[in-house]
Amino acid sequence: MSDPAAKPPTILVIDDDNEIRYSLSRVLTSRKYLVTEAASGEQGIAMVKKGPAPDLIFLDVRMGGMGGIEALQHIRSVNPKQLVVLMTAFGTAQTAIEAMKYGAFDYVMKPFDPAKVLSLTENALKTHADMRAVGDYKPTINADDYREGVVGSSPAMQEVFKVIGQVTASDVTVMITGESGTGKELVARSIWKHSHRATKAFIAVNCAAIPDNLIESELFGHEKGSFTGATVQRLGKFELCDRGTIFLDEIGDMALATQTKILRVLQQGEIQRVGGTETIRVDVRIIAATNKDLEEMVRTKTFREDLYYRLNVVRIRMPPLRDRGDDVPQLVDFCLQNLVKQKKSRVTKVSPEAMAVLTRHKWPGNVRELENAIYRSAVIAQTDAILVKDLPADICGPGLVELITGTPGGGASEALIDAARSALAESMAVAAARASALSLTSGANPPILTLEIAFDFLYASLSNDGELMQRSIERELARRALVASGGDASAAAKHLGLTKAALEKRLKD
Ligand SMILES: Nc1ncnc2c1ncn2[C@@H]1O[C@H](COP(=O)(O)OP(=O)(O)OP(=O)(O)O)[C@@H](O)[C@H]1O
Ligand SMILES: [Mg+2]
Repeated sequence: MSDPAAKPPTILVIDDDNEIRYSLSRVLTSRKYLVTEAASGEQGIAMVKKGPAPDLIFLDVRMGGMGGIEALQHIRSVNPKQLVVLMTAFGTAQTAIEAMKYGAFDYVMKPFDPAKVLSLTENALKTHADMRAVGDYKPTINADDYREGVVGSSPAMQEVFKVIGQVTASDVTVMITGESGTGKELVARSIWKHSHRATKAFIAVNCAAIPDNLIESELFGHEKGSFTGATVQRLGKFELCDRGTIFLDEIGDMALATQTKILRVLQQGEIQRVGGTETIRVDVRIIAATNKDLEEMVRTKTFREDLYYRLNVVRIRMPPLRDRGDDVPQLVDFCLQNLVKQKKSRVTKVSPEAMAVLTRHKWPGNVRELENAIYRSAVIAQTDAILVKDLPADICGPGLVELITGTPGGGASEALIDAARSALAESMAVAAARASALSLTSGANPPILTLEIAFDFLYASLSNDGELMQRSIERELARRALVASGGDASAAAKHLGLTKAALEKRLKD
């Protein structure tokens, strides 16, 4: 981003090879970066310690005296946020892995391709700027306050909490329904933890994961010799769980024959082991869950109606995450804090732009998908903050950013990317105006023309199939760029930030 009043970015080049320092400095100063040099790892570290910290460091891996990897570790211990690009003449997987493991932002291979060095520099500096924009991020929650693990302040979740509170005092059977990943099991555990059965067992049985011919033995146990393979007597989950709580997960997948026996437990509090004749009394609270439409199953007679009514005494409907927009930031913070506690990551922040993308995503896989996305982003984040570029492609819409901004990879500011995306999710017209206003005021580089064409077309072809829409936009953009350049494929490709071959492929596809 070009703010004429701003100081030029500072870059420190650490290499013991004079020629490399010279040529790299020349490439970088050609773009008005302020370059300082150090001729050894030791000297570089001294400069970093003395400050002020450069915006970016290029660091050679192989140097006489202290090597680059060691220097990198020193530098990062002085300033954990320092962005460092390693330079290596030996492009092996080993060096690349080492470099990234010790927190390098990226690495380049010698001899350099000046264009690559510059685009990498631009990218790194943009990350640096985005990182600063994250500033002092204030988490929306403190994970310690959620020892239950159930996060949520949306009205929909408040309703769920109310019902949990109401059912803990009794042994009433609870049926929890909702899409996959909405927290059905978590809620079942929460009911148990708050109930008077909290000191007794909680056993979860996944009815979908156990074959029909084994589930009865699993639930009710069996006598020795009752079937081939039953060499010893075995107690089932109901007996093991006496005075506890049993969670029958995916109950919609239970065979009708087994359903009959569950009904008997509910009505009489009794079970019989498979192959046995003895009637055994059990005192078990049942909580059931499913993501199937049980009412429909009752209608088609694949689920017993009498069992349905027995189970469905109290119903908790887990809201899908897309209806709980307010909860997303809290869940994100909760996941991040948990990852830190488990020492799986050191990421504690999310840029406002990345949070906006997360909040707008529809989350078909609900909280499980969100957990997964945060974990993946935290692992690849190069700083202590998750930025838009760290988010999984399926959440950002692959290629869309490049498409709309006309620049592959970096180039566009986070704010612009955000504005572009909101065009898809929200009102097209408003977002388009916002994005072009932004690119005007910020002086950002994406060609406004490209943006306008993109939004124009998005506007006209709003459909639900994101991938299809993206492909058709890409094709249309390519076509229009070609028309605008009077049929000059090279010029059109340049305008779109593509290679000529990529443009031609797009047109052909
Ligand atoms: N409100 C919440 N707060 C914090 N974490 C949650 C919340 N809801 C769900 N999770 C987490 O999301 C993941 C999925 O939750 P859970 O297994 O309870 O979902 P489910 O509805 O049983 O899914 P499925 O139908 O696929 O079995 C778990 O790791 C859980 O800890
Ligand atoms: Mg589950």
